[in-house]
Amino acid sequence: MMTTKHMLLASALLGSFPVAFAQDKEMKELLQASGCMSCHAIDEKVVGPAFQAIAAKYKGQADAVDTLTQSVRNGSRGKWGRTPMPPHSSLSGDDLKKLTTWVLAQKP
Ligand code: HEC
Repeated sequence: MMTTKHMLLASALLGSFPVAFAQDKEMKELLQASGCMSCHAIDEKVVGPAFQAIAAKYKGQADAVDTLTQSVRNGSRGKWGRTPMPPHSSLSGDDLKKLTTWVLAQKP
């Protein structure tokens, strides 16, 4: 027997899952297309740090999106190790912001 509570829960799940899934898929395509995934993975260090590790490091910092956007646009060195990240100056400000906001939302 479906109670009202169950129906609300079901509609909440049906309503939000496809949207979240579509956004995630769009973001993964953008990460691939921007070349990020040749050096990064979500949950492990490759050439660059894991996106989850980056999210953990900047958790709670109000200016994290700006800091990371600058790092990706201009390149970054010395924050995580000896290997530098090259600049990505051809990405639009919009894409950069989407990418860094998404990186900061990754949780283990
Ligand atoms: C050639 C390899 C390479 C590519 C391509 C690359 N990264 Fe990185 N990334 C790194 C390395 C290495 C670091 C660590 C740099 C450091 O120690 O300061 C890093 C650091 C970062 C950081 C943390 C910066 C900070 O200030 O702490 C973010 C966020 C990031 N990368 C996102 C991206 C995104 C988004 C892309 C795609 C547009 C990308 N990276 C492409 C190698 C790469």
